[in-house]
Amino acid sequence: MKTVENINVPHPFPYQGSKRGIARYILPYFPPDVRYLIEPFCGSGAVSIAAAGHGLAKHFVLNDLNRPLMDLWSEILEHPNILCDEYERQWLEQQPDRKAYFFKVRNEFNITHNPHQLLYLLARIVKGSIRYSSDGQFNQSADNRRSGMKPNTMRQNILDVSMLLSKKTTLAAVDFREVVKKAKENDLVYMDPPYQGTSFTRDHRYLNGLAYDEFVAALCYMNSLNISYIISYDGVTGEKTYGKSLPINLGLKHLQIHAGRSSQATLLGNNHETIESLYLSPSLVCRLEINKPFRKRYHIPEQQEFLFA
Ligand SMILES: C[S@@+](CC[C@H](N)C(=O)[O-])C[C@H]1O[C@@H](n2cnc3c(N)ncnc32)[C@H](O)[C@@H]1O
Repeated sequence: MKTVENINVPHPFPYQGSKRGIARYILPYFPPDVRYLIEPFCGSGAVSIAAAGHGLAKHFVLNDLNRPLMDLWSEILEHPNILCDEYERQWLEQQPDRKAYFFKVRNEFNITHNPHQLLYLLARIVKGSIRYSSDGQFNQSADNRRSGMKPNTMRQNILDVSMLLSKKTTLAAVDFREVVKKAKENDLVYMDPPYQGTSFTRDHRYLNGLAYDEFVAALCYMNSLNISYIISYDGVTGEKTYGKSLPINLGLKHLQIHAGRSSQATLLGNNHETIESLYLSPSLVCRLEINKPFRKRYHIPEQQEFLFA
């Protein structure tokens, strides 16, 4: 299996769909000369954090349509100590009645959109799975069996992430297309859009669903500009496949990563192994072909390249 060495990747907050567990299988498909790594659907930014930990890009762009989430990212990068102090205060204050405290913070957050309250909610909600009502109110419930990540652990994670990404990261909270259109040929775009299997359902797992056709149109446009990109796009869990594959005429290399038992599978209540689909853009494949010596450092045997293409 193609991996980079397994260094500990800090995570800034629990997030359903985080690629933290499989980031090390994705990094070997990075070319060596990445100027900007752009993550238009960043969520908890697991791939960017892992890439920063391995020194695989000079600069980073993190974007997510969820504005309060990006305000939280801004605090992580700009004021990590204040954020951690606020988390600790809430974590301690909740102790006499965690259930009531969670509802109090959730109600306040729906008015203020305060980043430190969002951090507390993310630490307490069921499986880090954000849900919004149809009128945009955060309505996920707490996992009342747990108190949420201990303040010291949270502090260590946030300070580590802040150290890796602050001063070299630009943040945005716009539709992915706005960010993608700024990419240049020596950049790399990593995209992990909302799961087709869970978008446009009554279960509002992500802030916004994303239409398949619109996503494909954006990929066509990126191909026309020779942009290098990697997409994580729906997978197979046991016998179930989520979503339809991307069209052949995009010329993508389709790889499959055996990702173990995913949080997605757990959320859907089964024990099957998840196989994640990874798609590489034509420009990226060219860049990787001409940079084979770099890839050898990651011990990727030649004959295994694109095994599943
Ligand atoms: C599967 S999650 C990404 C998880 C991420 N890879 C991680 O490691 O945490 C998809 C994200 O896309 C965001 N999103 C949904 N529609 C979007 C859009 N049109 N433009 C930008 N972000 C969007 C959601 O808010 C969600 O955070």
